[in-house]
Amino acid sequence: MSHDLFEAAKTAMAKAHAPYSRFPVGAALRTEDGRVFTGANVEVASYPEGWCAETTALGHYIMGGGGKIVEIAILAERMAKCSPCGGCRQRLAEFCRPETKLYLCDDTGVAETVTMGDIFPYGFAGDILK
Ligand code: THU
Repeated sequence: MSHDLFEAAKTAMAKAHAPYSRFPVGAALRTEDGRVFTGANVEVASYPEGWCAETTALGHYIMGGGGKIVEIAILAERMAKCSPCGGCRQRLAEFCRPETKLYLCDDTGVAETVTMGDIFPYGFAGDILK
């Protein structure tokens, strides 16, 4: 099952708009009911205003109805096992659980599987804000 998510991330990566870093990234996430949402990074001339592939995927996921995220694949063209940046870890954690799987990929498929709990322990949770 994880390989199809890798393929989805690869298709998304091909749509990256990364003319400044030339570092295309693709992300794909799956909800427990089987929906898949994808995204690529988007860069703009004012560099800090660009955003990551994971964030694009989360936007599609929210607009597609949200739900429980069970797995996520991330692929970068120029880096094996590209792992989400700090900001994306916080954004992903909003909609994931510690056991949510994260597939870090290389150009052939899933290279390593970790969990959100592995990569984002002791993150800030918004429970107290509700
Ligand atoms: N990037 C992502 O899209 N996801 C990651 O997990 C790491 C970094 C993007 C942001 C920027 O467009 C480019 O990679 C170089 O930092």
